[in-house]
Amino acid sequence: MRKPTVPGFDYVVVGGTGDLTFRKLLPSLYYCHLNGLIDSESRIVASARSALSTESYRVRVSEALQRYLPEVDLDHAAVTSFLDRIAYVELDAAGETGWAGLVSLLADSTNSIRVFYLATSPDLFGPVCRNLHRVGLVTQDSRVVLEKPIGRDLESALAINHDVGAVFDERAIFRIDHYLGKEAVQNLLALRFANALFEPLWNSRFIDHVQITVAETVGLEGRSGYYERAGALRDMVQNHLLQVLCLVAMDPPARMSDEAVRDEKLKVLRALAPIEGKDVLTRTIRGQYAAGAIGGVAVPGYLEEPGVDAESRTETFVSLKAEVHNWRWGGMPFYLRTGKRLAVKTSEIVIQFRPVPHSIFPGAAGRDLQPNRLVVRVQPNEGIKLHMMTKEPGPGGMRFRETPLNLSYSDVFKQRTPDAYERLLLDVVRGNPTLFMRRDEVEAAWQWIEPILDGWARHDMVPRPYAAGTWGPSASVAMIERDLRSWHDDAEMHR
Ligand code: BG6
Repeated sequence: MRKPTVPGFDYVVVGGTGDLTFRKLLPSLYYCHLNGLIDSESRIVASARSALSTESYRVRVSEALQRYLPEVDLDHAAVTSFLDRIAYVELDAAGETGWAGLVSLLADSTNSIRVFYLATSPDLFGPVCRNLHRVGLVTQDSRVVLEKPIGRDLESALAINHDVGAVFDERAIFRIDHYLGKEAVQNLLALRFANALFEPLWNSRFIDHVQITVAETVGLEGRSGYYERAGALRDMVQNHLLQVLCLVAMDPPARMSDEAVRDEKLKVLRALAPIEGKDVLTRTIRGQYAAGAIGGVAVPGYLEEPGVDAESRTETFVSLKAEVHNWRWGGMPFYLRTGKRLAVKTSEIVIQFRPVPHSIFPGAAGRDLQPNRLVVRVQPNEGIKLHMMTKEPGPGGMRFRETPLNLSYSDVFKQRTPDAYERLLLDVVRGNPTLFMRRDEVEAAWQWIEPILDGWARHDMVPRPYAAGTWGPSASVAMIERDLRSWHDDAEMHR
């Protein structure tokens, strides 16, 4: 058994019966428990409006663990001792009822660290924090975790940050973006700053462009209430894709400290050229999936999903061309793309280097030279692939083949890759906000997103349909091909 790496804590999950809690938060806490990372006194308190006893809530947790975890990880004794840590409190978090129960439960605790995880819709963040303050639950060692999205535009994000900031210090506020906790995303810091090799080339003189793709095969997964109001730009681009872009584009921080890392990311967000006016028509593509097939199985279109308005204009796909205007990147494009019901599930970053400045090889061999490409596979099959030109063995002159240097995490590390939430949930307890979004980052990201939303509304940009199981609307392909480039969708990349 490993020794606990964090001091004892009480984790209060507000929104304790939601999908995120059962699918991600509790399974991640279970793994931390299984791995002996959690002190024996630490407790989890789930709260929601449903009238449930702790016993019946534990039954639901146990079912969720069975549904979402592989059987090999379900150690009977560990599951039982994990469930023992959990209590349930009926609570109207934005209202007045139920607070006494939570207060008395926490009063009995000997743990000094208190985490309030708000797995609720963002409009409740302010009211819940006010209530926490009103009933005296916010102690010096309390932290609050806000699930993304923080608001739905700049104005609502400012209001939330203001309301939460009135109760918690900025250092006690953890705005979660689970992409920052993914191993391969964290490894971007190692790739770039623990190796001397790439950094001298990491600029627009040697790199032609960058592509960041987060493709999903799933559809709405029963989240129409939320998704109809959000759409792919707010759900994925404003947070996950921009955060990844920041880690790829930022300058080296002077040290691995939360402020230094986040200062550099913020500079990138502020260097993004706004996509304004008519530019939205050429630099952004909105799509919405129509019926199609995923893995050979027919799936309905977005408009046929339960809970979706038959005339909905919510986008389930976005691709866009962002430009970072600073000395390092000089306006070089970062193509971003994300969507639901796409051809494969993959998240990856493609760094496309420029061609050699001059080919010394005559004839066909010289013409066949492909520029180098570095692919960071975020998921699945985490790894890094560097495509290089190699001479084919044998006599008869020079013939080249593009060959990859392939580093696969599963081959090298031979261990389960932890879910992003496992790292992040314990970072909150440790009080380490490096992998969380600071207030000014969230606001800068909305500042960049907002002209796109405005442009879509002003130009009445209706999402273009694409068949489920494809790579999105053909206009997305046309957008990048106008720049004489193409999306890297080759099957080989997903191996
Ligand atoms: C969430 C979005 O933040 O990220 C979901 O709200 C999306 O719509 C999910 O499906 C994707 O996360 P992952 O870790 O499965 O890539």
